[in-house]
Amino acid sequence: MEFRPVKAVETDAREVFSLIVACREAMEGTEMEQWPEFYPDLDVVRGDIEREALWIYREDGTLVAAMTVDDTQPEPYDGIDWKYGGLYICVHRLAVDPARRREGIAGRMMVFAEEMAFRNGRKAVRLDTYGLNTAAVRFYECLGYRRRAIIYLPKKDGEYICFEKSLAPFSPDMLYTLIVESRSVRRFREDVHVSRERLIELVDLARHAPSGGNRQPLKFMLSSEPARNRMIFPHLRWAGYIKDWDGPEEGERPVAYIVILGDREITETFGTDHGIAAQTIMLGVASMGLAGCIIGSVDRKGLRVVLGIPVRYEILCVLAIGYPAEEVVLEDVKDDDIKYWRSTDGVHHVPKRSLDDLLFEP
Ligand SMILES: Cc1cc2nc3c(=O)[nH]c(=O)nc-3n(C[C@H](O)[C@H](O)[C@H](O)COP(=O)(O)O)c2cc1C
Repeated sequence: MEFRPVKAVETDAREVFSLIVACREAMEGTEMEQWPEFYPDLDVVRGDIEREALWIYREDGTLVAAMTVDDTQPEPYDGIDWKYGGLYICVHRLAVDPARRREGIAGRMMVFAEEMAFRNGRKAVRLDTYGLNTAAVRFYECLGYRRRAIIYLPKKDGEYICFEKSLAPFSPDMLYTLIVESRSVRRFREDVHVSRERLIELVDLARHAPSGGNRQPLKFMLSSEPARNRMIFPHLRWAGYIKDWDGPEEGERPVAYIVILGDREITETFGTDHGIAAQTIMLGVASMGLAGCIIGSVDRKGLRVVLGIPVRYEILCVLAIGYPAEEVVLEDVKDDDIKYWRSTDGVHHVPKRSLDDLLFEP
């Protein structure tokens, strides 16, 4: 059956109110009780209908779910540092027939609201849910909603968690996660191949990256065959701070490489082009579930010989790529010590300076 909620009309009001009462009764006596006896009442429901903000879903004439979608936020939302400015919608009072729980109806109602908002040019969805209603909190988090603040609502006890979700196809939260997950990894699963086609896709990302003067002087030499990989590996230097380790052992070496070259016939200076290209590729690597490491410490002479790279091309850096076989964790820099280290359980620790340390004022 097609899932198509419709706008509620005045004659739906009592039925919607009964649904809300049924939901309230189902939660009664549990910690999750989020609607007090007097809220939402029939007047609230009628108000939602008058504002054309109440959407209902029926199956064979029977009311199954209701929710309010509008673009006016409750007063306690005003002081919140919402991440996504611009136009948004708020979802309130999502109610699903308790007898129809666990059928994914609430999720479909939310998807309906988000799609409607997206079509109408809205950039984000805001909502709140009772903090002790762990099922609802989990539900919204699974749908990609992020916690923004705790609020206290008039006439309601307890804490309410405010959530926000960006409707942008690629949200700032997603980008942040990708960047944080994109760590330098130096031990790989050598038994899992990475194809040349994958490497070409990665170079295609770098092709779209910025370039000084738009000169685009970079060239990319690919390696995904064991024979060529074996030629490249001895010319790379690994993890200088880890003194008793010479790099990945056989069985944990990278299965692919991208050698970034600068074409001296286009320009003699490559500025930051290769840094930008390298990180663009590394983000692509992380987005594919792969991992890698930018290697700047390269025996360039040796590598040039084994790969037969003409002098016209400067070897700028090498990207080592594969499926990760080590865990990397970030931690705060202590006593100004930025050296990464490996704990006895094999986990690689990377200290990062704090934001306060980075922000500069003369
Ligand atoms: C320009 C550049 C050159 C690097 N060269 C090497 C290298 O030669 N060998 C190595 O093991 N790691 C190298 N790295 C990886 C850094 O050690 C790594 O980025 C740093 O320890 C922080 O870890 P993270 O990338 O997980 O944040 C290089 C990174 C960059 C950006």
